Amino acid sequence: MAASSSHLTCSLLLLTFITFTISPVTATDHIVGANRGWNPGQNYTLWANNQTFYVGDFISFRYQKNQYNVFEVNQTGYDNCITEGAFGNYSSGKDFIMLNKTGRHYFICGNGQCFNGMKVSVVVHPLAAPPTSSTGEHSTPKSSAPVVLERGLWSLLLSNLAWFGFVCWI
Ligand SMILES: *[C@@H]1O[C@H](CO)[C@@H](O)[C@H](O)[C@H]1NC(C)=O
Ligand SMILES: *[C@@H]1O[C@H](CO)[C@@H](O)[C@H](O)[C@H]1NC(C)=O
Ligand SMILES: *[C@@H]1O[C@H](CO)[C@@H](O)[C@H](O)[C@H]1NC(C)=O
Ligand SMILES: *[C@@H]1O[C@H](CO)[C@@H](O)[C@H](O)[C@H]1NC(C)=O
Ligand SMILES: *[C@@H]1O[C@H](CO)[C@@H](O)[C@H](O)[C@H]1NC(C)=O
Repeated sequence: MAASSSHLTCSLLLLTFITFTISPVTATDHIVGANRGWNPGQNYTLWANNQTFYVGDFISFRYQKNQYNVFEVNQTGYDNCITEGAFGNYSSGKDFIMLNKTGRHYFICGNGQCFNGMKVSVVVHPLAAPPTSSTGEHSTPKSSAPVVLERGLWSLLLSNLAWFGFVCWI
């Protein structure tokens, strides 16, 4: 009885630990406008230029619910602030949107505030480095960083597994 309940505790601890260790590697959440959020009068081009987006990352919009919203549109929609034919629309006030596809994505606010700067476009990069890189000095450090990080996490994970094994043995 005591032995099985302590085994359960060990398993739960282990599961929790693995979940929390592995998940940060898989995706970054890019909060639009950082602590200024999704509001009029910002220049989101400056914000977007300061981030690197990869497939599987999230872009998240935080704003006063019922006041603003988010539409994913094409370039025409972005340039002209029109939502017709939008690929998606969001209005929770805390919208997490997964960037599933490489290439440029366009997001605008749909209630006229797009004209006051509530528009952002981001370029989503593939996770793997392209085989031939014309801009070598730029792409090499960026593509190798996650690999190094992953290796570091694996050794951390393994050493902690050993620790859990020891504790659960007792
Ligand atoms: C935002 O900043 C970019 C980069 O400096 C600039 O090209 C653009 O004109 C600015 N947009 C507005 C609406 O000020
Ligand atoms: C760019 O990102 C850095 C690091 O996150 C931050 O310190 C800086 O304020 C950002 N600059 C702009 C213009 O957002
Ligand atoms: C964007 O979508 C609109 C509405 O569906 C369409 O009329 C327009 O041709 C599209 N523009 C581009 C560049 O795909
Ligand atoms: C928002 O998207 C849903 C489906 O995803 C669609 O039914 C609805 O008409 C859209 N709303 C607007 C205002 O485009
Ligand atoms: C991205 O993919 C996930 C998983 O397939 C899906 O749940 C989500 O709706 C997709 N997001 C967008 C914006 O298409």
